[in-house]
Amino acid sequence: MAVRRIRIWPDPALKEVAAAVAAFDAELRTLVDDLFETMYKANGVGLAATQLAVPQRVLVIDLDPRGDAKEDPELAKELTAMGFAGPVALVNPEIVSADGEIKWEEGCLSVPGVNEEITRKGHVVVKAQYVKGKVLSFEATGLFAVAVQHEMDHLVGKVFVDYLSRLKRDVIKRKMERLKADDVDDGVAAAAML
Ligand code: NI
Repeated sequence: MAVRRIRIWPDPALKEVAAAVAAFDAELRTLVDDLFETMYKANGVGLAATQLAVPQRVLVIDLDPRGDAKEDPELAKELTAMGFAGPVALVNPEIVSADGEIKWEEGCLSVPGVNEEITRKGHVVVKAQYVKGKVLSFEATGLFAVAVQHEMDHLVGKVFVDYLSRLKRDVIKRKMERLKADDVDDGVAAAAML
């Protein structure tokens, strides 16, 4: 297991369209382990392989990275209501159906320190494969639905700032350039970092 470097927008690697995974082998398991380790280290709740410059359809989500739900029944109830049942790695995910609408203040590990409200589908039915190839399907609402859609966007080369106006994007781009110049890579965001 290893922590890998998360690419910062507008790194061209973030624009790559990921390919479907065909081999459910040791390399895939290492990629998934590294995704989890890198996400936890960065205090994120979701991470896509694209963000590590690996253009494969793989993503991980953990809405409770510190395990707070164990001591917080309200949080546990909320997470369960969203369809979230613990850390999950999705290989070759597809959205089978989607409806409703949700607005959420999103953040992204590839755009540190930036939070913006984005509108997405409020309820999604997802089909994917586990790391060993078995097919799973589940429903997600709330932050879980947001996270799935945000990470799946990464797999097609899309970052949440692509939903914003060009003016806002340009401001964020300059912010990212300053960040690079200052060599500060730890933007602290209040919103969920995906
Ligand atoms: Ni992201």
